[in-house]
Amino acid sequence: MADLFRKKSIAELMKMTDGEHSLKRTLGPWALVALGIGAIIGAGLFVRTAAAAGEHAGAAVTFSFIIAAVACAFAGLCYAEFASMIPIAGSAYTYAYATMGELIAWIIGWALILEYALGAATVSIAWSEYLNNLLGGIIPYQLCHSPLEISSAGVHGLINLPALFILLMLTLLLIRGTQASASVNAIIVCIKVTIVLLFIFIGWKFMNNANHTPYLIPDNAPPVDLGNGKVYDYSPAVNHGWLGVLRGAAVVFFAFIGFDAVSTAAQEAKNPKRDMPIGILGSLVICTFLYVLFSYVLTGVAPYTDFVKAGKEASVAYAIQHYMVGYQWLSPLISIAILAGFSSVILVMLLGQSRVFYSMSNDGLLPPVFADLHPKFKTPWKSNLILFVFVGLFAAFIPGSVAGDLTSIGTLFAFVLVCVGVMRLRKTDPERVRPFRAPFVPLTPILGIIVCSAMIITLDKTTLLTALGWMIAGLIIYFRYSQSRSKLSK
Ligand code: ALA
Repeated sequence: MADLFRKKSIAELMKMTDGEHSLKRTLGPWALVALGIGAIIGAGLFVRTAAAAGEHAGAAVTFSFIIAAVACAFAGLCYAEFASMIPIAGSAYTYAYATMGELIAWIIGWALILEYALGAATVSIAWSEYLNNLLGGIIPYQLCHSPLEISSAGVHGLINLPALFILLMLTLLLIRGTQASASVNAIIVCIKVTIVLLFIFIGWKFMNNANHTPYLIPDNAPPVDLGNGKVYDYSPAVNHGWLGVLRGAAVVFFAFIGFDAVSTAAQEAKNPKRDMPIGILGSLVICTFLYVLFSYVLTGVAPYTDFVKAGKEASVAYAIQHYMVGYQWLSPLISIAILAGFSSVILVMLLGQSRVFYSMSNDGLLPPVFADLHPKFKTPWKSNLILFVFVGLFAAFIPGSVAGDLTSIGTLFAFVLVCVGVMRLRKTDPERVRPFRAPFVPLTPILGIIVCSAMIITLDKTTLLTALGWMIAGLIIYFRYSQSRSKLSK
């Protein structure tokens, strides 16, 4: 029986950072913060804020953002400790391989597929919504919705073609090796932050106090008529009050996903010891600040009940078009900026996923095809194409909310394991130099585990069961395929 907890040594991993093949250390603290914001602000803010407000938290979605931010901060401190200690182009998968052994690394790698691949699918579905809104709704409902969705007029979705289109374009871009360079990323970040600020400043004048009263959804909130004989019911425990706020936190948690992408650039940081924590925590703090203000204004401008009806899709454009009289001209500009912003998030997610596949394949845990490099472009092109098919299936046929919840659960699970990893390594390898130490260990990781687990529990049963099924499938593959082929077994 092979050792399930065999590890790659940190010294072995660090060797990869020396020599001529190592990446150049060019990123300073601001570039890292910008990288984080580039990967963070996307569909979570521009689509899922409205879903969380409409379905679970009402105006108190601002509290949901704060809870999600706290969970991310605990996990972020743990990520920062790992990223400064093992500053190589890795991720939670690599940290786990070095600290908790192969089986746990496999489990994290498998959960990261939910984060990155389904994250890309979710954002591509959001891209499709904003494109259709920008084009005045000319794309027939059937061709831009999953078969599991039905419009208020009773039309069934068939396939989400715009989502497939954007995924294909970005996959081809990745194969060509065109990486969003630091400067392109910086421009997109400026555009994103500008539209968020613009919406906050202009929307502030259009806020209606009545929309913020009461602030939490009351337990006797009347159901909302969705047409078609359907209603949205607020009586379940997670659809009102503080439990609704917690459930909302699990939904908007999606908006923070991506700060861990900063850790994947550790090998390119000039001074990882100081700059990794600044990059990870700095981008988190800035985004939290923007998110709370943004959601406060959005739920002040439009009543939360709108967001389970017509305002469900492209909610920011909807709020401007319906409530911000005189500023309708702003809506298409914002939509274009949002489309650009979504594209950079999708790109980072697809890139992150192919990097994780690449590492897992190099370690022998996945078939070699995932590490095959294109002879000319030197990119893992076969992996990118397989990924396109996989992500495309979700984007074309699954509703955005389902993909989004699966993304959140995969990420939350990975965060829990990273918190466990930090505590464990403090015990098993206390002498190792830790350029950045997460404060108050074990309290910080324990709180991280508690808050992330609490959010996991509030997700709906179907999401939990699907994720469980996914993890079981992963374990079967590990024991039947990967374990015997692992490079460590040779
Ligand atoms: N945080 C990223 C987004 O909201 C994934 O799109």
